[in-house]
Formats: sequence, structure tokens, C-alpha cells
Amino acid sequence: MTGSSPTSSPRNSYYTLPNEWDFADERLALLGAAYDPESIALAQRLGVGAGWRCLEAGAGGGSFARWLCSATLPGGRVLALDADPRHLTDLPDRGGEVAQIDLVADELPEGAFDFVHTRFVLLHIAHRDIVLQRLVRALAPGGVLLLEEGDGLGVRNEMPGAFGEVWRAFGRSTETAGADQAWARNLPTHLDALGLVDVHADAQIPVFRGGSPMARMWNLTWAQVRETLVALGVSHKVIATAQAELQDEQRWFYAPPTVRAWARAPRKP
Ligand SMILES: C[S@@+](CC[C@H](N)C(=O)[O-])C[C@H]1O[C@@H](n2cnc3c(N)ncnc32)[C@H](O)[C@@H]1O
Repeated sequence: MTGSSPTSSPRNSYYTLPNEWDFADERLALLGAAYDPESIALAQRLGVGAGWRCLEAGAGGGSFARWLCSATLPGGRVLALDADPRHLTDLPDRGGEVAQIDLVADELPEGAFDFVHTRFVLLHIAHRDIVLQRLVRALAPGGVLLLEEGDGLGVRNEMPGAFGEVWRAFGRSTETAGADQAWARNLPTHLDALGLVDVHADAQIPVFRGGSPMARMWNLTWAQVRETLVALGVSHKVIATAQAELQDEQRWFYAPPTVRAWARAPRKP
């Protein structure tokens, strides 16, 4: 494994929402507040608990890795990696390990984890198929892989108003940088092909109120990518309208689904 200190400079320069942005920690905390309850409930259903050895890949703000520490330690292991792990510095105090690892360029420990998880990571990485194979190899026999990735499936062109207009431009900008907003829908097929067993999947469309953590997360996202959106032809006025709407507690929104796929590595015969 190639690891280095959390203070080293990030290497995933193609990622469109870099963790070094001034408000990235706030944005990632809102992402965690919006998505952790479902992620945690599913991980608990899959049996994640005391003594499990866990890999959180692309840990971002670290909220899910913090929950893994509380659920599996002492006795287990939590390795939280990110190409830019600057928001994970508290994890060692909780018993977790932090590594600066680029999932495309660096190797992972093989056969080492009972649970491997990503959320909103693989869709952004152009070489996602190589990374997926690496994550599968990191599983111990019988280990569980849980992938939660965004996909425009069925919703991308349906989202109304300024939010929809801005979201579609944002989606295009991520794809220019190597993301694929139509990849996650095929996750169960990929997991079958990689020889995993007990493959399951679902997709969930977030429906959320203005002012909620999800709405505040998107609001900050538009702030982070404002110049990119303007370069793509979205006016400052439309961006400001979308941001004002996201603060309006009388409004409801929906966003592209999260595809969640989970499966097990076969046990040795
Ligand atoms: C949208 S954030 C999601 C963070 C976290 N998984 C969550 O759901 O709260 C994506 C994270 O993946 C990381 N990332 C992107 N490309 C990466 C790569 N090639 N190797 C490792 N981490 C990467 C980013 O630095 C960022 O922290």
C-alpha cells in the first residue's frame, strides 16, 4: 500500500469538487448529514459491527468512517483513505487509520477487509473499472462490498426550474472531467461479472425540502462550481435563483438517484 501523511498535497487534480476548497468541510458534513442515515441503516442490515475490518474508500469528510469506528472498534479495523484526506485528521483519535491513497494509481491491501464501502466516489473516477477490481481484491473471503453511487437515471432531464438547469450543467461539467452519470445503474452487472455472490441493488431518489441538509449541500456545491457553470453558459442570475430556491423551506426538490449495490466475495471452498 502506498500511503502518505494527510498533509501531503492532493493528487486527484481531475476531481471537480476538491477537498481543499474553503467550505469543503462544511459541504462534506452536509453530505454526511443527508446520506449517512440510509448508509448506516444498510450497513447495519448487512451485519457491519464489532470486530469488522473496514475500508472506507474516498472517505471525504469522514462522517461514515467515524460511524464505522464507533460500530467496529475496538477489535476491528477502520482504514479511511482519500486522495486528499485533509478532513480526516481526527480519525486516529477514534482508533481509525488514515491514508492518502489515489485509488487509480495506488495499490490496496488484498484480502484484508470484511467490509469495503464507497459513496459518490467511483462515478467521478474515469478509471472506475480498474478501481472497482481493486476494491473487490481488497475483500477478505466472505467480505461485503457496498457501493453507493449517483446516477442521473430517469431524473436528470425531469428536474424542473433553476435547480434542474443548474444540475444538468453541473452533471455535464463532471462528465467533462471524467465522471459518468450513467454508470452506477449497471453496478449489479459489474459485480456479477467480477465473481461476487449474493448481489443486490436498489436505487433511491432523494426528495428534500429547501433549507434541509441536502438543499444546503447543493447550495454550497453551486457556490464551489460557480465559475465552471458560468463557463458552460449558466447565467449568474439562474445560479442565484437556484440558490435562493434551495433556501426556501416551502419548496421541495428531487435529485438524481443513488444506486446502491452490495455483494459478497465468495468464501474459499
Ligand atoms: C463526493 S466526495 C464523497 C465523500 C464521502 N464518500 C461521502 O459520501 O461523504 C468524493 C471523495 O472521493 C475522493 N476521491 C476522488 N477521486 C479519488 C481517487 N482517485 N482516489 C481517492 N479518493 C478520491 C475525493 O477526494 C472526495 O473526498
